[in-house]
Amino acid sequence: MTRIAIYPGSFDPPTRGHEDLMRRALALADRVVVAVAVNPNKTPLFSVAERLDLLRATAGPDSRFQFDAFEGLLAEYAKTVGASLLIRGLRAAGDVEYEFQMALLNRQLHPGLETVFLPPAFDLTHISSSLVREVARYGGDVSRLVHPTVSAALRARFAR
Ligand code: PNS
Repeated sequence: MTRIAIYPGSFDPPTRGHEDLMRRALALADRVVVAVAVNPNKTPLFSVAERLDLLRATAGPDSRFQFDAFEGLLAEYAKTVGASLLIRGLRAAGDVEYEFQMALLNRQLHPGLETVFLPPAFDLTHISSSLVREVARYGGDVSRLVHPTVSAALRARFAR
């Protein structure tokens, strides 16, 4: 049986932390669906199509990755792709309360979906998309925080 993991997020933009988790997820599943959540209440820096391109560049060529976007409930989307594992990164204690709530709610909505929390590599725990956006917005160097393609996209976005 093929084990499918879903790794959802905003990925605005994808970071080296996301890349690390994508790779770790491959150790747990045969296929990893990296899914961009479309949130109509948020104005993202990058469009869904741009984020998917940036994720592809960040992940590199590996046929076990699949990239997609979804709108609505994650639990419902996970059913449509046949995922049995839901991957979430835990960077710090501050993440725990929200992530725990989300995991329990998702389990209630879809009992066949188990959430797996993965800590990223130690030297990547400080990276978040929001901080990357802020550093890039003020012209700071994000080259150690994101893939070069993402770095170039951020430069281009804030050069305007
Ligand atoms: O990268 P993020 O912003 O931490 O990802 C959060 C995300 C997109 C995984 C979460 O907000 C989500 O699952 N959104 C889809 C809507 C949904 O199912 N909400 C209820 C979660 S219990």
